Amino acid sequence: MDVTIFGTGYVGLVTGVCLAEVGNNVLCIDIDPNKIDLLNSGGVPIYEPGLDEMIQSNREAGRLRFSTDAKAGVEHGLFQFIAVGTPPDEDGSADLQYVLAVARTIAEHMTEYRILVDKSTVPVGTADRVADTVREVQASRGQTVEFDVVSNPEFLKEGAAIEDFMRPDRIIVGTDNPRTGELLRALYAPFNRSHDRLMLMDVRSAELTKYAANAMLATKISFMNELSNIAEAVGADIEKVRVGIGSDPRIGYQFIYPGCGYGGSCFPKDVRALERTARGLGYAAELLQAVEAVNFRQKEVLFSKIRDYFGNELAGKTIAIWGLSFKPNTDDMREASSRVLMEALWEAGAQVRAYDPVAMEETRRIYGERADLTLAGDALAAVDGADALAVVTEWSQFRSPNFEAIRSRLRTPVIFDGRNILDGSLARATGLTYISIGRAPLTPA
Ligand SMILES: NC(=O)c1ccc[n+]([C@@H]2O[C@H](COP(=O)([O-])OP(=O)(O)OC[C@H]3O[C@@H](n4cnc5c(N)ncnc54)[C@H](O)[C@@H]3O)[C@@H](O)[C@H]2O)c1
Repeated sequence: MDVTIFGTGYVGLVTGVCLAEVGNNVLCIDIDPNKIDLLNSGGVPIYEPGLDEMIQSNREAGRLRFSTDAKAGVEHGLFQFIAVGTPPDEDGSADLQYVLAVARTIAEHMTEYRILVDKSTVPVGTADRVADTVREVQASRGQTVEFDVVSNPEFLKEGAAIEDFMRPDRIIVGTDNPRTGELLRALYAPFNRSHDRLMLMDVRSAELTKYAANAMLATKISFMNELSNIAEAVGADIEKVRVGIGSDPRIGYQFIYPGCGYGGSCFPKDVRALERTARGLGYAAELLQAVEAVNFRQKEVLFSKIRDYFGNELAGKTIAIWGLSFKPNTDDMREASSRVLMEALWEAGAQVRAYDPVAMEETRRIYGERADLTLAGDALAAVDGADALAVVTEWSQFRSPNFEAIRSRLRTPVIFDGRNILDGSLARATGLTYISIGRAPLTPA
């Protein structure tokens, strides 16, 4: 099938590549000429495991092309995927200007039936606004061409995006037109072989499903973080509590890890946007407000622990940071906890020596050259001469470090583990003080 994707970010690029991989003829359009040039010269603008190779093989097979020519994009595909950003507006609601701009572009160039597929995360009612926008443009051109607008939210996880798209646990399709539903079913058939994962529903339910999923996941994290603070206060160990409650199948072990807060391009903005949607309709979503407030506070927990340990004397201290991306296997640093920590440390006059397996370039892009930031060549180099080590992102390679080597490089033998991934008793046996989330600190005997 002929497919056009507007937006070559995480979602657009992965969608385009995976649809090409199963044999479709995909044209990806972006307004950013640098991105398109990079992709056309064999480069990849983001880090995502497996993406590079798949782009290359599908480009070579002629099934995947990149262009800034929107008109060619509209002419190309029966399916017109809208996968552009929906960043938060000033008040936290989703900014739909990019989505609606694509809708206008499609309407301006459309000469035959097209299916507009909303893949961006958009508030309930957006499909109607997209349809209204197309109708307005058509009316101004004195033209009526048949079209449909479908909600098809994306659930991929950065870091496992290809795997999630190729083997989805659900494909949500929201449409009121059964014929369009069948066309989407045909497009997704190759991802649906072992059993039917496609769930057809009305448009509004599909739109809300995406927000509901992200809000639920964010709630699990904030719940555990709230509990971890209570655990510290009462002298309990949150990791024991986690295993204790996870054994109940109604709760489960998944996604209940305490830590130093969630970040990324989705949870923070989607929780906020859903809360604003509800508020706009006169409903106070108090649970969502609390999820956001708890997360905001939790992102400051590591800094508070470091500040308290050094008795409020951080000026002139150097803190090593392991992990800068908002989660492992991505270089995405949008709303990352590392940023909150680094900015608080700088504010307090401390120096940062940081290391991340893939997000170093992104850190340089965000913060530029600054005297109080050193980007180290590897994890141990970051620790060299630092006063403390803070672990912020749970990359696998940080899980089993050489504590002896860490201790010998640190000026003060202390580790702050913001993700509870290290073996505290081993750290302690090596002579390190180990401070984690939701548990009492461990000090060397
Ligand atoms: N990143 C994720 O993990 C994820 C997961 C599920 C859903 N989503 C949702 O998917 C949407 C896209 O997210 P993303 O992370 O891929 O965004 P992104 O910011 O990485 O990419 C958006 C791209 O759209 C391009 N663009 C903007 N206006 C355009 C236009 N008029 N025509 C063509 N291209 C245009 C931009 O240049 C950019 O390359 C968002 O709504 C997001 O909430 C993201």
